[in-house]
Amino acid sequence: MPAYASSVPNIALIKYWGNRNDDLRLPAADSVSMTLNTPHVEVGVDHSDILTVSSFEFDGRAREMTMKHIARFQKHLELVKQYLTHIGMMDAIPHSIAYTIHSGIPPAIGLASSAAVFSCVAEALAGLLQQKGHNLTREQISVIARLGSGSASRSVFGGFSAMHAGKGNDIDSAYAEQIVPADYWPLHDIVIIPSLKEKEHGSTEGHALASTSPLFKQRVEDIMDHRQQDCIDAIRRRDFELLQKVAEEDSKNMHEVMKSSTPALHYLSEDTYKIIDEIEVYRRMKNLAVLYTMDAGPAVHLICTEEAKTEILHYAHSKESCTVFVTKTGEGSHQIDKPRL
Ligand code: PMV
Repeated sequence: MPAYASSVPNIALIKYWGNRNDDLRLPAADSVSMTLNTPHVEVGVDHSDILTVSSFEFDGRAREMTMKHIARFQKHLELVKQYLTHIGMMDAIPHSIAYTIHSGIPPAIGLASSAAVFSCVAEALAGLLQQKGHNLTREQISVIARLGSGSASRSVFGGFSAMHAGKGNDIDSAYAEQIVPADYWPLHDIVIIPSLKEKEHGSTEGHALASTSPLFKQRVEDIMDHRQQDCIDAIRRRDFELLQKVAEEDSKNMHEVMKSSTPALHYLSEDTYKIIDEIEVYRRMKNLAVLYTMDAGPAVHLICTEEAKTEILHYAHSKESCTVFVTKTGEGSHQIDKPRL
């Protein structure tokens, strides 16, 4: 019987960039994110003789799956088998899987679709294992998600969640956990997307280059020494000022690492910098609780409080050549009875 799940992207406040083990996607440092309430991805999984991946847009149109995409699912399944062996669930290992993906995420809008897809895959696989009497914990589901995309481990939880990098090379030494649920601190994420071009370098390639930057070692030290904890404290205390300080520092620092790696990675565009400058002026002028953060793309995520939302929306819609996507704190991945998209 197939198993189904639904999930969403997340926006990182302390960014995951660089691994200590690329093969197992074991991160070099901790990270924190806010799970979003939209757009949704749904995944169905079933036992199969061979691995197949069928992917559809939300309007039902088939999405082309390249060899690179299929290879990623193949690699993920190999790692899942390795992990299930590691935790003594050998009898739960599927021979192979048929995946069906329905994605409501417009391509290249700067929202990490891999985080939504692999958290959803992990959740659906957990449903399949449940049919054989194996109940995985949320932490174990986050490990399965991480094996496909590091940031996906955080979308397993709603609200705000943290990934613990851990130490060593055990396959489950890094996992995510929830900091607080979605209703603890509802914040909005108004995403301004200057360009709808597909990005040139995916994050998997980028992680592998992170350690070539002379700034990388210090970045890892700063996160592990205080920045991760400051961010968690800010969330627990609902301290927007502190959240703004650490999240902006971290986003800027990640982009410095990217720009100083070999080869250099430039994800931000002139529009990105313009929006940041304008927001800095605008928020000072109007005293608005808004922070900016950018992942591996030119999109600017403006995270703000309920009080600041109307002003920020007004600003976002004034950027004529940009696409605006409105989202907020949401629930993480979960199983569903049947597909809805
Ligand atoms: O999970 P990945 O391999 O797609 O990497 C995500 C990288 C960033 O989005 C830039 C940062 C993050 O923590 O989400």
